[in-house]
Amino acid sequence: MEKTLLIIKPDATDRHLTGEFLRRVESARFVILGLRMLHLDAVTARRFYAVHEGKPFVDALVDYMSSGPSVAVALERENAVKALREFVGATDPAKAACGTIRHDFGLDIQRNSVHASDGLDTARDELRFFFEKL
Ligand code: CMP
Repeated sequence: MEKTLLIIKPDATDRHLTGEFLRRVESARFVILGLRMLHLDAVTARRFYAVHEGKPFVDALVDYMSSGPSVAVALERENAVKALREFVGATDPAKAACGTIRHDFGLDIQRNSVHASDGLDTARDELRFFFEKL
C-alpha cells in the first residue's frame, strides 16, 4: 500500500466540486486517510511549491493558490502515486485524457483543479506538509 496527496485547488472549491472529486476518488478505490480544508497564505503556498521557485509561473501560482480555500486529501491505495497521477491527468487540461479530473473540470494550465504528488519521496514530504501525524 502507498500513500499520496491530492489537493483540491481554489478553482474547484469555488465551483463546489469538492464532493464530486471525493466521490470519484473513492470510486477509484482510494481510501481517504485524512481531509483538511485550509486557505493557504502566500508564504505557505510558496513554501509548498518551493521546487518551482524561479519559474515564470510561480508568482501567479502563489496568488492563485492563496486566492481561496483548498482541500488537502491524504489517500491510500496500491500504487497510489502513479494511480492518482493517472486519475488527475496531465498538468494542462487541454492535454489531459478524457475522463480525468483535469480534462473534465480544469480551466487552464494554472487553474487545473487539483494537485497530485509526482513520486514516492514527494508524496511523503507533501503529506507531512499538511498531515503531521501521517
Ligand atoms: P501542479 O501539478 O499543482 O504543479 C505546479 C502547478 O503550477 C501546476 O499544477 C499548475 O497549477 C501551475 N502552473 C502554471 N503554469 C504552469 C506551467 N506552464 N507548467 C506547469 N505548471 C504550471
